[in-house]
Amino acid sequence: MAIPTEKQPDTGIRQAVSHPLDPLTAEEIVEAANILKSQRRLGSRVRFETIVLREPGKPDVLSFQPGNSIRRDAFLVVLDNEEEATYEAVVSLNEGRVTDWNKVPGVQPRIMFDEFFECETLVRANPDFRAALAKRGISDPDLVMVDPWSAGYYGFADEEGRRLALTRNFLRSSPTDNGYARPIEGLSALVDLNKMEVMRIDDYGVVPLPPNPGNYAAEFVGEFRQDLKPLEITQPEGPSFTVDGHSVAWQKWHLRIGFTPREGLVLYNVGYEDQGRVRPILYRAALSDMVVPYGDPSKDHYRKNAFDAGEYGIGSLTNSLTLGCDCLGEIHYFDADLNTGRGGSFTIPNAVCMHEEDYGILWKHTDWRTGQVEVRRSRRLVISSIATVGNYEYGFFWYFYQDGTIQLEIKLTGIINTAGIAEGETPRHGTLVAPQLNAHVHQHFFNFRLDMSVDGEANTVLEVNTVAEPLGPDNPHGNAFYAEATPLKTEQEAQRVIDPMSGRYWLVSNPSVKNALGRPVGYKLMPGENILPFAHPGASIIQRAGFMTRHLWVTPYAPDELSATGPYPNQHPGGAGLPEYTRNDRKVENTDVVLWYTLGYHHVPRPEDWPISPVGYCGFSLKPVGFFDTNPVLDVPPSAHHNGACHA
Ligand code: NI
Repeated sequence: MAIPTEKQPDTGIRQAVSHPLDPLTAEEIVEAANILKSQRRLGSRVRFETIVLREPGKPDVLSFQPGNSIRRDAFLVVLDNEEEATYEAVVSLNEGRVTDWNKVPGVQPRIMFDEFFECETLVRANPDFRAALAKRGISDPDLVMVDPWSAGYYGFADEEGRRLALTRNFLRSSPTDNGYARPIEGLSALVDLNKMEVMRIDDYGVVPLPPNPGNYAAEFVGEFRQDLKPLEITQPEGPSFTVDGHSVAWQKWHLRIGFTPREGLVLYNVGYEDQGRVRPILYRAALSDMVVPYGDPSKDHYRKNAFDAGEYGIGSLTNSLTLGCDCLGEIHYFDADLNTGRGGSFTIPNAVCMHEEDYGILWKHTDWRTGQVEVRRSRRLVISSIATVGNYEYGFFWYFYQDGTIQLEIKLTGIINTAGIAEGETPRHGTLVAPQLNAHVHQHFFNFRLDMSVDGEANTVLEVNTVAEPLGPDNPHGNAFYAEATPLKTEQEAQRVIDPMSGRYWLVSNPSVKNALGRPVGYKLMPGENILPFAHPGASIIQRAGFMTRHLWVTPYAPDELSATGPYPNQHPGGAGLPEYTRNDRKVENTDVVLWYTLGYHHVPRPEDWPISPVGYCGFSLKPVGFFDTNPVLDVPPSAHHNGACHA
């Protein structure tokens, strides 16, 4: 299609923007949608899946100086429900025109929030669905929760090319009751979301509703433990960080905050001040996608999995956080401005929480001869957000420590997904968590895209394993072992899994910058608890989420390679994302590398996970290895103490 070229005057709204990586403002989101609407002929039933900043190229970002003019481009993904087609657009906000407009054949944008509600209303009103409810003794469809799940891809002819959701349904006993206590087993609706019509109702047979409620809300609990005394966090002089727009400085750390509807929290330009300058470590870090495969093979459960970023847009499902509840202490909040399905904007107030935490001791030694004690307290900067995806909550917590360590921790909580089971039966692929209530075994796989820049863009990744020296002249007593570093030179070589028994880690090194000891400076990726998938290599979910099969992937930087599952995982048959990016086995040595770390959290549910799961944790760390010339936290001052300072 031809693109109008007349230049329109800049509206001046970019005065609110001070850096090329600032997320689009609410005004810019609406302006981008309006420019597209007025310059392209869009159908009357159009949904805006994405309106985000199209990030400028790295050279433009890295050379940016305050006061420079800022180019603002918006990237949009549009779903035309009438035409059943997906379009990508780029809108120049400076020029007020559409600069790129392409139809993307054969893809489905993620399921949007509006579609959740429309789908629920549709299914509740469906006569066949109501008849199936009546068979189960359910008379009030308004108390039925209809959760639309992404349908995946199984090669069924009647599903080909259609935009789908497959529902799982639950019954509340009152409007605030926890409906997940009563799965309506054996019943699902397959919905065409473009036509917004029910394709069919599947009824695999009645299973009685579990007998017990499963409520956790304060109104139902009634009696609380009485022995908790107040615990106050006070910072009488305020926090130690400073914030300028989306830019943050804390201790020696410098970074920028971003946010997208798909990824949620994004960190940019993370660096640590040392030797009189800010030394870069990470150019960009964010969740790239995640998936939750379930292990039950039955007819109404084998399709149960969810790509919560790529299929649902976990950023757009982010909570507005509350002081004293989600976060404690001196908090700085960042709001998130995101697009609605109709091309408007909405704001999630307090989407990102930032605060400091005391983290126990940083280092300590007692000179046992003199009795002299030196101890320092550790403090960390916490930047976090929490999203609700259907029944589940995910908290994403980035920690910055004074010693140069960066840690990512995921907090998993919320309500486990449940299924009904006949009285007296014991589930094989799940755990009985309450009478006649089965919680299926499942896994949560996250992939984080870490665009590294350890003291510059040209980095090399090495795998470090500790090996036992064989017995022989060099090891006559059998005690010898050593750490061995092997460079990972190509994308295929760099597809790795963890090996805790060899103390395996991956070192991102800058071969052209040496520390005071003459060694290349580096940062290591330290895996935490991790696991591999149990699905068969030929299973649909392994094809569609190939990223799960390796914990480490390394690619050379490419601006359009942003997701481990590719741009459109919803209903994608498989092979996209990391398996596709790495097919040509590009070189990844001494170049601008991107690390992709896959993190698997294994969940065999416990009765204690019901009716709401206490937080489970998983994560990884990035830790300096010869990045500094010596311990970087000798200059942390001793704390004041009521008996004097914390040193003798
Ligand atoms: Ni779980």
